[in-house]
Amino acid sequence: MTSRSVYLETFGCQMNELDSELVLGQLRQLGYRLTGEAADADIVLYNTCSVREHAEQKVWSRLGELAIRKKEQPGLVVGVLGCLAERDGTALVKRMPVVDVLCGPGELDKLPSLIDNAVRTRTALLADETPYQRASDRSASQIALQGSASRRSAVLAAAEDSLEMLDLSRSVSPIDPDPDRPRSSAYVRITRGCNKFCTYCVVPFTRGAEIHRPPDHIVDECKRLADAGVIEITLLGQTVNHYRFEHGSAVAVNGVIQPQKGRSYAGGHRRDPFAGEQTTTFADLLARIHEEVPSIQRLRFVTSYPRDFGDDVLEVIRQSPRICRYLHVPAQSGSDRILQMMNRGYTVAEYLEFLDRARQFLDQPEIGRPLMLSGDFIVGFPTETDEDFEATIALMRRARYKNSFIFKYSPRPGTTAINKYKDDVPEAVKRERNTRMLALQNEIGEEIGREQIGREFSVLIEGLSRRETKKRARQAPAPGTVSLTVSARTAPAGEAAADDSACDSGCGSGPKCSSAVVESRPEVATEVSSEPVQLTGRTDGDQIVFLNIPARSESGRTAVSMVGEIVRVRIESAQALGLSAVLL
Ligand code: 5AD
Ligand code: SF4
Repeated sequence: MTSRSVYLETFGCQMNELDSELVLGQLRQLGYRLTGEAADADIVLYNTCSVREHAEQKVWSRLGELAIRKKEQPGLVVGVLGCLAERDGTALVKRMPVVDVLCGPGELDKLPSLIDNAVRTRTALLADETPYQRASDRSASQIALQGSASRRSAVLAAAEDSLEMLDLSRSVSPIDPDPDRPRSSAYVRITRGCNKFCTYCVVPFTRGAEIHRPPDHIVDECKRLADAGVIEITLLGQTVNHYRFEHGSAVAVNGVIQPQKGRSYAGGHRRDPFAGEQTTTFADLLARIHEEVPSIQRLRFVTSYPRDFGDDVLEVIRQSPRICRYLHVPAQSGSDRILQMMNRGYTVAEYLEFLDRARQFLDQPEIGRPLMLSGDFIVGFPTETDEDFEATIALMRRARYKNSFIFKYSPRPGTTAINKYKDDVPEAVKRERNTRMLALQNEIGEEIGREQIGREFSVLIEGLSRRETKKRARQAPAPGTVSLTVSARTAPAGEAAADDSACDSGCGSGPKCSSAVVESRPEVATEVSSEPVQLTGRTDGDQIVFLNIPARSESGRTAVSMVGEIVRVRIESAQALGLSAVLL
């Protein structure tokens, strides 16, 4: 057992957030103390993202600061986890000797032993220190990376997959700071990695080949989370609708069924071509979770690949009241020429055909269940002309996303695009296109918001709104106020208008990218005051809703105690950032 303290900061997508949660759970079980303050920590870890350059720069600057701190605290252990570690490998330690531990996203199960070794190595380096060999200038060099070996096998059943143990060992709610208030939402991974090789994207190189987890493991995890009080689960995968587990080829190691490599096929199907008794398709998996874990009131999934989204999945969603009517389906561009250069594998017409089909199945505003879509776009991809861009604008108008994530093309080392195409769209043009798309998205988002006025929805209350949190931060706690930590996130700012500044990174995992310190939670005060409290939550279609609730109701119930609950509301007005509602 150790009494060392660990600080972990997460950059990037939901997949990283989940990885961080699992890693922290594991470290906590081993006796490490978790802290939300980097300055207090003996071990500082960054779970990194390399999808775009912007996300990387933050990590480089954090590491620069730690190099200075390490001169004062040479025993400090610094670790870089995740996609940047995997992509740069040992070159990262050469560039930044302050880094002691390097651990790729496919090797996180090894992290505790890497940290343990690093602590011992640092102690030895300190003992060995000479005026010419300062311990603070030397790395403990504990490294676990998949390297290119991650794609080594085309065999359907992978060999022993030790990373599965990390997901399996999930100690439910490991970092909930408030045991009296179990959190209401959780992520569950169903696939890892990606086989699509979009030419701009590093994910297939950093996260490796597409791997599907055994369905029993996934369902069990959902059950355990539900037993711990979770009512909303988001299934995660880079291309979540590619999920398939072929039981005939399942392999067990030491009695544990192993995850399975994704089989490639031509695509463009309406139903999973391998469906049948021996296979759990994505549609089957959704149906199983919906049926077997009924206390999960909301089941979501991100991110969907627009091709290969079969009617079988749409039918299951339509028939299942607790599966959310929300799809995140990145189009990336509205120009067939650019889509081809991106290797996306579909045309604009095919993409639109899918959206029409999805709407036909799932858009039911008359029963309070409109289908909500969100998208991702890259502007300024090499050779993108004004004409290509106008085609993207036209697609955005046609698709009517409730929100979109718009990124300026960022050439990434190791990708096909950086080697094959010159980054020839000037920065000013990228910026201008980005701004134009954001403006259009805001317009459409507001329009969709206004369509909801007068409608009634169920809303899962997630926490204080950002405005309320800021207000509270400005006010010193009033006498008689009890301080209480709430385990819910605040609404991301400007989600309806997310862009590079609102979303630090992102990989194929989805829209709620944020740079988050996993341990930090908003401090909330339950006060005895008549001033209303602004709470925020989401509809089943993932629209953000603001609610002004009296701090304490006539029955004595506090507004804050509603966090984590699903309530019925009526929409009163719509703004760019979300909908305002009243409680029914
Ligand atoms: N440049 C800009 N955006 C990118 N994305 C992925 N790679 C890049 C890149 N090299 C975006 C895509 C993806 C989202 C998560 O990040 O839009 O869907
Ligand atoms: Fe895979 Fe998404 Fe990256 Fe394409 S953009 S390679 S689908 S993670």
